[in-house]
Amino acid sequence: MIALGCDHGGYELMQEVKAYLDKAGVEYKEFGCFSTEAVDYPVYARKVADVVLNGSCEKGILICGTGIGISIAANRIPGIRAALCSDCFSAEATRLHNDANILAMGGRVVGPGLAVKIVDTFLNTPFSGEERHARRIRLIEGTEE
Ligand code: RB5
Repeated sequence: MIALGCDHGGYELMQEVKAYLDKAGVEYKEFGCFSTEAVDYPVYARKVADVVLNGSCEKGILICGTGIGISIAANRIPGIRAALCSDCFSAEATRLHNDANILAMGGRVVGPGLAVKIVDTFLNTPFSGEERHARRIRLIEGTEE
């Protein structure tokens, strides 16, 4: 199950992402927002982070206008590794190296065609499991010094 959250700046791109997930048969839960009416992106970052952290959703996708605000907000929450991606190389690398659990994108930055390829790459790339990457994640999380 994938958790989806956006603000008004990400709402339109999120509709494209949903259409792609429907076509690909990927299950998702929506946590808002549900229109282009102005809202506060940290609210949606937290809703998605909460369900990723409690395990009811395996990953999250967050979209705001730039992807910056919503990824900053998500990354303030311990245990969240939100990767702001505008290209497929980064989406692949952040899964392989960082085991990122949330993908963030900018609705005013990437077009729909690229965005769904980024989503596809992010969702279908496993963590490499390599020790050096696992160690770096433990250092991020503060479980290793
Ligand atoms: C909203 O106008 C915009 O500030 C927001 O979507 C995002 O880009 C913030 O980083």
